[in-house]
Amino acid sequence: MTKINPESLIQSAKLISFLLFSGYACHFSLFIIFISLKSINFAREFMEQQKVIISHCLRTSMAQAIAECEHDKLFILADQTTDRLCLPLIRDYDFVKGAHKIVIGDTDSNKTLESVAHVWQELGRHGATRHSLMINLGGGMITDLGGFAASTFKRGIQFINVPTTLLSLVDASVGGKTGINFGGLKNEIGVFNNAQSVILNTEFLNTMDRENMLSGYAEMLKHALINERKMWAELITFDIEQPNLKELQRMVAESVAVKQRIVTEDPTERGIRKALNLGHTIGHAFESFAMRRTPMLHGYAVAYGIVCELYLSAIKTGFPTDVMHQTVAFIKEHYGKLEITCNDYPELLELMTHDKKNIGSTINFTLLSGIGDIIINQTATREEILEALDFYREC
Ligand SMILES: NC(=O)c1ccc[n+]([C@@H]2O[C@H](COP(=O)([O-])OP(=O)(O)OC[C@H]3O[C@@H](n4cnc5c(N)ncnc54)[C@H](O)[C@@H]3O)[C@@H](O)[C@H]2O)c1
Ligand SMILES: [Zn+2]
Repeated sequence: MTKINPESLIQSAKLISFLLFSGYACHFSLFIIFISLKSINFAREFMEQQKVIISHCLRTSMAQAIAECEHDKLFILADQTTDRLCLPLIRDYDFVKGAHKIVIGDTDSNKTLESVAHVWQELGRHGATRHSLMINLGGGMITDLGGFAASTFKRGIQFINVPTTLLSLVDASVGGKTGINFGGLKNEIGVFNNAQSVILNTEFLNTMDRENMLSGYAEMLKHALINERKMWAELITFDIEQPNLKELQRMVAESVAVKQRIVTEDPTERGIRKALNLGHTIGHAFESFAMRRTPMLHGYAVAYGIVCELYLSAIKTGFPTDVMHQTVAFIKEHYGKLEITCNDYPELLELMTHDKKNIGSTINFTLLSGIGDIIINQTATREEILEALDFYREC
């Protein structure tokens, strides 16, 4: 599959210019140059706006990120838990002392329009202007909701993401997707908008529970599977149950680089960004299925989705079965299993059909033919999907 990046677009534009001047090109080449340059500019703009700081000292990184955003007033958005556990780590920094704190309820049930309205009200009540700056201190719920609230307040104020969960460090805080749940649907309302900076520091993870650590780790596994074998091999041998946070900091940086590379190539998910959906088509169905019973953390659903979608990759696109079995064994050992029976298949299929990533009624999958060999826009028959669910139950 062809991967596009700004550099290759520049090369293509240069080549076409050369052909043009050599007398071989026609109006069509001019059109391609125009399109290429437009894509380069858009990708560059998106890439330049979001600065990811791999932080070894929170004080220094935050001071630098805040100093780079000229502002009149500073706001910090936290949820009840990050207010208690994470804010104390930064509260004494001089540049944070005058900031106004906004706190909302924690967990995804508070990722609502009501919470956004509360943030807007607090910003307004404390004199925020278009030149104010907001720091989102929390997991994916806070970075998604805070990013959305900031992007819409007075048509948009600047914000900095300081992710505090593993999932938000490696995934949610980077890539420009912001939003809230609405009408019973996840992430139904939102905008693409980049944080001015994202500060990645695993120091916050000291207070993180096992389940939330594993939830974030599933996204790291996904990044490794769509990237390269060495990263994958390191992840399935790393002790995530008792992690060395310094080691993890390096792995987080490498993992985020995978997401950033893909997002830079395709900011609005028209092509290669769909690689990030590996494990998510069936994963989202598991997540919604569980939500109607006992809710499950997103990363667990993704891990189970990866099991099924690696199986589909093995039978449809030649993914090596030894790598599939090793990944499945790792997931089974750490994530256990969501108990399902054949009677649940119709509901799971129904949920997959309604995934918002589908076009029409065709279920869209991202599959692999090997580690790092991504094949987007794949479909599978009903029988193949049921076979994958059988594999999940029996593995
Ligand atoms: N924008 C994106 O690209 C993207 C990608 C993936 C997920 N998401 C979104 O991210 C959200 C899930 O993110 P999450 O898993 O970080 O959930 P979360 O933000 O709800 O955090 C999980 C729990 O951990 C607590 N917590 C946060 N930091 C902590 C710390 N350092 N120590 C102890 N507890 C801490 C939170 O208060 C919360 O109770 C979902 O809303 C999902 O839709 C967005
Ligand atoms: Zn995910």
